[in-house]
Amino acid sequence: MRKRLLCIAPDDAHTAALMTGPIHDWDTCCVDNLADADRVLRADGYPVGLLLRTRALLRSFDLDGFLRRHRDTAWIGVFRPHDVDHAACCDLIVDHLADYHTEPVDPRRLAWTLGHAHGWAQLRRPSAPQDDAGLLVGRADAMVRLRAQVARVARVDAPVLIWGESGSGKELTAQAIHAQSARARGPFVPVNCGAMPPNLIQSELFGYERGAFTGAARARAGLIESAHGGTLFLDEIGDLPKDLQANLLRFLQEKTICRLGSTRALRVDVRVIAASHVQLQRAVAGGDFREDLYYRLAVLPVTVPALRERREDVVTLAEHFFRLYADERSPRLTGFSSRAVAALLDHAWPGNVRELINRVRRALVMADGRLVMPQDLGLESARVTTSALDDVRARTERLALRECLQRSGRNVSRAARELGVSRTTLYRLLSKHGIQP
Ligand SMILES: Nc1ncnc2c1ncn2[C@@H]1O[C@H](COP(=O)(O)OP(=O)(O)OP(=O)(O)O)[C@@H](O)[C@H]1O
Ligand SMILES: [Mg+2]
Repeated sequence: MRKRLLCIAPDDAHTAALMTGPIHDWDTCCVDNLADADRVLRADGYPVGLLLRTRALLRSFDLDGFLRRHRDTAWIGVFRPHDVDHAACCDLIVDHLADYHTEPVDPRRLAWTLGHAHGWAQLRRPSAPQDDAGLLVGRADAMVRLRAQVARVARVDAPVLIWGESGSGKELTAQAIHAQSARARGPFVPVNCGAMPPNLIQSELFGYERGAFTGAARARAGLIESAHGGTLFLDEIGDLPKDLQANLLRFLQEKTICRLGSTRALRVDVRVIAASHVQLQRAVAGGDFREDLYYRLAVLPVTVPALRERREDVVTLAEHFFRLYADERSPRLTGFSSRAVAALLDHAWPGNVRELINRVRRALVMADGRLVMPQDLGLESARVTTSALDDVRARTERLALRECLQRSGRNVSRAARELGVSRTTLYRLLSKHGIQP
């Protein structure tokens, strides 16, 4: 197979000479501006890119932003002799380029550099695809089930009760339900029942009329009214004081509210999604939560799995946040080292996805090499050596299966060939690790 190269040359002074020289045996696509290069790379990634007249490109375009977007391509720059004395060119080389040349280009050395960059590009782990379906990232079985549940409950208007550990993604799940529902164009109004002072919740939720209490100089709509036509997300519903539980129950039954200081019932069209990190049944049994309200809210119960129950998603999520917070990292940081990946897989994640976000953001700031190391994530991998060998083997096997399936586009025959096992063995391994082919 011919090696593929994208060549960006603002003028074609040197391209012809190169095409007949060091890159004559490459499958080369030439463009003269970054907008065209962007289009070409989006349609069809190139492992290696060559920038000719790099300083001219730097002066006329947002080359830094372009190279940040396309960091999966290995870039080689060609500069005029004194260009590299300029600080902007030095920064570009250090931050983005795999190598650089100065004119006149030595064709043999350029051919060697391009070949070397191509070889490295083949070895690099491909970063996760960018088209993660919807808001909820992850391909673990538990996540596939959650997305299916979200799609189903989004079709109807009944109340939803989401349960999940702290930081597992309850609010994001509620947003996903809203976004897929017929109310998507309406507002999504989150209310944290645990964070609001008890004496304010009533007026915040239900609103008030002028003069309803001292200081109520003007009438004000409450949060329930402001969610009209959309979704009201009642977070930490278990913290709602008992007297307000009765008011909320009335609203759920009658679909009307009365502002504080008024007896006029206002009809409000709102879908309610509630969430809790404590098991509400226990609060019901302990007398802290009204049983009738619990049954009103839990028409459609949804459970968000803890991150430790979807370990195969940890690396995908880490890469997702690596991209999401790209602005906070040095451009020379390109990804996670194998040791960092092992440490991510080994950690227990008591703080779930929120903890993962915090660790990745910390690593973006702390890392000073090209790859994130375990200590940048605050994860020393000492546990790897002390945990049972079988555990390590199983984890590695799971990771290899997942990555190979992803690479092969979930084609079992191709994945089996790549792993050097029969299709039957591959099916057995997939079922052992609970991975869907
Ligand atoms: N599957 C996911 N894909 C992408 N981002 C996620 C996923 N799950 C959670 N997150 C992100 O993790 C963070 C925590 O999620 P969220 O706030 O929904 O959790 P929570 O369960 O409501 O947490 P808490 O109990 O602390 O309120 C958010 O920034 C959210 O966007
Ligand atoms: Mg939350």
